[in-house]
Amino acid sequence: MFGVCYYPEHWPQSQWEQDAQMMSELGLTYVRIGEFAWSKLEPNPGELDFEWLDQAVLTLNNAGLKVVMCTPTATPPKWLIDQHPDILPVDPNTGATRGFGSRRHYDFSSEIYLQESLRITKVLAIRYGDHEGIDGWQTDNELCCHDTALSGSKNARSAFQTWCRDQYPSIRKLNSEWGNVFWSMEYRDFTEIELPILAVTETSPAHRLAFRRFSSDKVVNYHNRIIEVIRQHAPNQFITHNFIPMNETGVDNIALAAPLDFTSYDNYPLGRTDLLLTGAPAEQLRRYMRTGHPDFATYYHDQTRGLLNRGFWVMEQQPGPVNWANNNPRPAPGMIRFWTIEAFAHGADCVCYFRWRQAPFAQEQMHAGLLRPDNSKTEAWPEAEQAMADVAQLDITSQPSQPASVAIITGVEGLWVSDIEKQGQAYDFNDVQFSYYSALRELGVNIDFISVDADFSPYTLIIAPSLPIIDSAFVSKCKASSAQFIFGPRSGAKTTEFGYPTNLPPGLLQTLIPIRVLSVETLREDCAEVLNWNGKHYESCRWREQLDAGDTEVIAKYHNNEPAIVRNERFIYLGTLTNRDFLLDFLQQQFHHNNINTYRFGEDIRVSQRGKLIFAFNYSDQQQLLPLDSDTTLLLGNRIIQPHGITVWQASDKAPLLKK
Ligand code: GAL
Repeated sequence: MFGVCYYPEHWPQSQWEQDAQMMSELGLTYVRIGEFAWSKLEPNPGELDFEWLDQAVLTLNNAGLKVVMCTPTATPPKWLIDQHPDILPVDPNTGATRGFGSRRHYDFSSEIYLQESLRITKVLAIRYGDHEGIDGWQTDNELCCHDTALSGSKNARSAFQTWCRDQYPSIRKLNSEWGNVFWSMEYRDFTEIELPILAVTETSPAHRLAFRRFSSDKVVNYHNRIIEVIRQHAPNQFITHNFIPMNETGVDNIALAAPLDFTSYDNYPLGRTDLLLTGAPAEQLRRYMRTGHPDFATYYHDQTRGLLNRGFWVMEQQPGPVNWANNNPRPAPGMIRFWTIEAFAHGADCVCYFRWRQAPFAQEQMHAGLLRPDNSKTEAWPEAEQAMADVAQLDITSQPSQPASVAIITGVEGLWVSDIEKQGQAYDFNDVQFSYYSALRELGVNIDFISVDADFSPYTLIIAPSLPIIDSAFVSKCKASSAQFIFGPRSGAKTTEFGYPTNLPPGLLQTLIPIRVLSVETLREDCAEVLNWNGKHYESCRWREQLDAGDTEVIAKYHNNEPAIVRNERFIYLGTLTNRDFLLDFLQQQFHHNNINTYRFGEDIRVSQRGKLIFAFNYSDQQQLLPLDSDTTLLLGNRIIQPHGITVWQASDKAPLLKK
């Protein structure tokens, strides 16, 4: 299925019918509306105006389109802010209030804002909760985008104190858990507790971790309350949310997703590539600036799918240049079709383009749509048409998502630990996790992102690139599972309260791998040293641990012959970060041992499987020959895969390419 993001309030009513007609002719099913429309729905306090929205829904329905309605809570109107200025969040880095005039100007700790959000949501849910032309709901919009998870407001401070009171039996216990005897940080009462912001130098890591946990809980609580109201009045309509990556929001997306029917993701491959490759050499950016990095879009598709372990939507798909990255190039010809099919290959059930028509006013006037402001069609239009034809021909959406043999354990606590305790500039949770993902994708395997709480039984190989905080339940699950595990450095390195395990890292993991981390060193990114494995030299870099390997088997060594990677039965522990060449060779060997098929088609080719369909995506601007068996049944494209092209073939039982 396909859809589009539409803003009826941006256009004269006289335009709506033609818009709806064209959407339907294009073959769209869904239209998402309303997520920023509060000032139109309630122009004055308590004065609700639904006439225009009723009319917009009717016009869309009359053209055969279904509506995804949104709560308008990402943009509280001016009168509400004037009535209750303390809805505004406070920048924790400067202490300055973040004002009205853009979006997301609300504080998750504002009780008044929660009540106002519930009120407007209830009114909408009552009005549209059993409307036949409305299939479902999107909550808010990109929760915590624009760094809005944390607030340094008075509301946040008192809510944090209450949260601490609920978490710790006494202030003495809190003092001891946080190590407040250090630097005379002890509190005498919960009412004395400060937010860990704006201090002279660094605040206690346990204090900061608690603040992150509290802030994430606040977001989850806000979202859950909104969902409860929609469910109550719209029991037969779906509820989703358009997530942005957890590494950008710093909140627990897994917890946020739990009450939803399915998750959604907003896919802007070029914007993200520009931002993520800001510091990369020009040649690398130039190579991907019009295609997106081969692994950025699917990295987030796979994570979004993993939040509920079921099909997801792309709620917003980039259709041309955006306006918000440092530089905003046009996509290479073919990329709109390419990204669309790629999303389906990774488990999407629906792709919606953002936006219908480029707005000739306000902040996003430089952002492309399917139409230009003069109503002419952009290059994205025929590409969307082509993608729809391809998806229909392949019947992709009736294929089940492919069960993966390989899982990456992810979670927000690893991100928090890496943010809070840098130790070395070059250790970054997301970079570490992405380096594994990208190597695995280059080897052509499907990957699931799972949490520590997931069922481990479907997997042959489970990788935890950065899992500093674990508990004994996790250790027991690992023991009970029959999978092989690979733990990255820093695993088990912190207690739940951000302490150093007194039995030394990897703490509780010692039950699985009886080793001790004697010391940790971090190196500048460009000061790598040698890692010796399997008779070859690779790199050991950025984060390096000195290991007492005990009786474990040493499988790789540092330049000075000290142990760098060890194994105990099914459990492997890497004491160091390393480079791409190592990950590719090492992981390929692990797959080989576990009978998992890999396929290395080349640096810019990615292979994915959904049901019986195997897709190859060519990110390069050169055609390439895919070394497929002569009896392969091609379903789309050719053995010679075109630049930015796609080839699809049928998985065969005889030569399973990606299955175990
Ligand atoms: C998204 C957002 C949209 C729009 C878009 C522009 O992050 O949800 O409202 O701003 O970016 O690319």
